[in-house]
Amino acid sequence: MTAPSRPLATGRAAVIAGIGSYVPPDVVTNEDLTRRLDTSDEWIRSRTGIATRHVVSPGTATSDLAVEAGARALKSAGGEDADAVVLATTTPDHTCPATAPAVAARLGLTGVPAFDVAAVCTGFLYGLASASGLIAAGIADRVLLVAADAFTTIIDPGDRTTAVIFADGAGAVVLRAGDPGEPGAVGPLVLGSDGGRSDLIEVPAGGSRQRSSGRAAGPEEHYFRMQGRDTYRHAVERMTAASVEAVERRGWTMDGVDRFAAHQANARILAAVADRLEIPDERRLSNIEHVGNTGGASLPLLLSQAAQDGRLTTGQKVLLTAFGGGLAWGATALHWPELDPL
Ligand code: UT7
Repeated sequence: MTAPSRPLATGRAAVIAGIGSYVPPDVVTNEDLTRRLDTSDEWIRSRTGIATRHVVSPGTATSDLAVEAGARALKSAGGEDADAVVLATTTPDHTCPATAPAVAARLGLTGVPAFDVAAVCTGFLYGLASASGLIAAGIADRVLLVAADAFTTIIDPGDRTTAVIFADGAGAVVLRAGDPGEPGAVGPLVLGSDGGRSDLIEVPAGGSRQRSSGRAAGPEEHYFRMQGRDTYRHAVERMTAASVEAVERRGWTMDGVDRFAAHQANARILAAVADRLEIPDERRLSNIEHVGNTGGASLPLLLSQAAQDGRLTTGQKVLLTAFGGGLAWGATALHWPELDPL
């Protein structure tokens, strides 16, 4: 069961007008990880498809990544303006307040509405829904949507099942008000959730549940935990079903999809989903080998890099899908617009 996606009542669609991304400069190789974890380059490559990843240095926070990506997206869209800022993140700078207002202020956008969206690895797609809603409702004409995560700040450095996968990065798009029929128009958006399995991916401490218990949390409870094998199974099922639904609602057929961009969770998951959808190798976009799993940032980072290196070009039919903690998942399909990606 997923949320129904109806035509926008106002007829105003959110259209992608600019895209940018940023990864922090420090790179960690699989070999580096073997020095502190019981793992191997062979295990990580064969089980996840990851060879290297970018990580924040001490003192760097999610907003620092978000500002870099946001500035690039604004520049790509040919201006410095936006009248709303949405930040999708699982690693906000603070529990309170939201990080989006700080990002907006540092981009010279003080005064505009700015808020965070918490949908873990599906954050970019939920952020697209939020931005589309702001535009459809006439609240904003030009929205900066940033998806940024500094996942390594919540990963247990001693947990080999998560430390080898998760990494840091940011991606952003500028969405302008436009026509649903234009290239770059977002939608239909297929979104869903299953809070009955929130236990699969969680940070146990730091929220009202643990705090109101009156019990101080141990340091390990502030780390991210994931039940990998079960998560893997749900990821394949949900991304496959959501992708089928998004393509159907768009009126396309799967063999007409030119580029498949899935949340870069694990190369084996991506292959399993694409195989089920019968999307051939040459139409699959991937950058997980070099960036790992960057959470909510994953999709816009992939799109930005693919558009920069020519794997994604104007006019192509693109299918996007994501899955993650919540559980939450989603998919959408759009024609890639003419852009100057940064
Ligand atoms: O981002 C959104 C949500 N996240 C995902 O979608 C990620 C979903 N899950 C995964 O990507 C995979 O489940 C993992 C990469 C986390 C794990 O891969 P797996 O093939 O599912 O491995 P597993 O958990 O079934 O473990 C297989 C074996 C275990 O050893 P035993 O019990 O068979 O002796 C693990 O202890 O591999 C072991 N193992 C490792 N060995 C070397 C787990 N992590 C490592 C490691 N290095 N880093």
